[in-house]
Amino acid sequence: MNPRHYAWTELDQSHLQRHPIENAATIPSHWFTNPALFQDELQNLLRSHWQYVGHESQIPMTGDLIADDVLGVPLLVIRSADQTLRAMANVCRHRGGPLVKTRGIHRQRQLTCAYHAWSYNLEGQLLRAPKFEPRIKTDHDACSLPQFPVAIYSGLIFVRLNTDSPSPENSVDQWLSGIQERIAPIAISTMRFSRRVVYDVACNWKVYVDNYMEGYHIKPVHPGLSDILDLKGYTTSIDATKVLQYGPLTGADNPYHTDGAAYYYHVFPNLMLNILPGRMQVNAIVPVSVDRCQTIFDFYYDEPNAEKLTKKVQDDLEVSDLVQKEDIEICEHVQRGLQSGTYLCGRICPSEELGVFAFHNQLREAYGKIFSGGH
Ligand code: FES
Ligand SMILES: [Fe+2]
Repeated sequence: MNPRHYAWTELDQSHLQRHPIENAATIPSHWFTNPALFQDELQNLLRSHWQYVGHESQIPMTGDLIADDVLGVPLLVIRSADQTLRAMANVCRHRGGPLVKTRGIHRQRQLTCAYHAWSYNLEGQLLRAPKFEPRIKTDHDACSLPQFPVAIYSGLIFVRLNTDSPSPENSVDQWLSGIQERIAPIAISTMRFSRRVVYDVACNWKVYVDNYMEGYHIKPVHPGLSDILDLKGYTTSIDATKVLQYGPLTGADNPYHTDGAAYYYHVFPNLMLNILPGRMQVNAIVPVSVDRCQTIFDFYYDEPNAEKLTKKVQDDLEVSDLVQKEDIEICEHVQRGLQSGTYLCGRICPSEELGVFAFHNQLREAYGKIFSGGH
């Protein structure tokens, strides 16, 4: 169990209570604004869940690696000599220097620290510590880079950072269960990575998730989208860890110019999968601080024709960028509202905000465990 930072109060305890949706309130504003509570979330909730980092096709060869910062942890995911993927801290055991300085995809034969040139093999074991030898040689095992669990789901790579406590959902397959069956004949495994787009957003990560969870805001916030989206067939369904917003795509007027259906999955706590015929966006909401997050959009396609692919990507990026900017603007306003001291809790609209209701109850359950010291 990680230490708790936030002084959980009687008031918080009352907000842990669940109510039927007709009487339900939103979670309170200080859960979106308190920096100590954010630390508890990071340590006890987010780092205990699988975090998306990329696709295995991005690092096919020995020595290929993804360098990233995942929930405040500088991390490397490396294809090692035996072809397995390993995740390890990008933090040298000498005095904390970086083994890879820039985020992104790299290929290395070995890892050499940029500070004093300690070197490690692709499995994270110390090879050389210049000038220290031979004294430190006996200590090479203790000087290995800390490793983290890695899991692959239909080619998507996930890591989990908190190895002290078992995750509530131990395997990625269990965590994402039911999705592939539900979206068939669309197959995640046939999707090919196309590109990444990242946005910085000045709001708590949960504000952004709340916004994703409902179509109630579409008309006021996305007037362009509401003209072309047919919201009649939209449904929201929930289970313990997932909220699915489902919409049939009808006619030629929808922005994706395709028949079939759109599946918008939120998987607790911070992963979203937007899946449509022939395309998928993996949308990871990365908390940065109590009032900042990043939204990562990885665009994937199942489109063998290069010309058609280019056109699809261009069209999607345009629609997505406009919608994102509209969402970001409203989310940043909401964060200011939550920080204003004029607002504690709001109401949930039963016909429109089932997803928000489900997410808040998932948070209540997770916070209850943090509050009571369990997992
Ligand atoms: S911090 Fe890496 S070699 Fe000194
Ligand atoms: Fe939106």
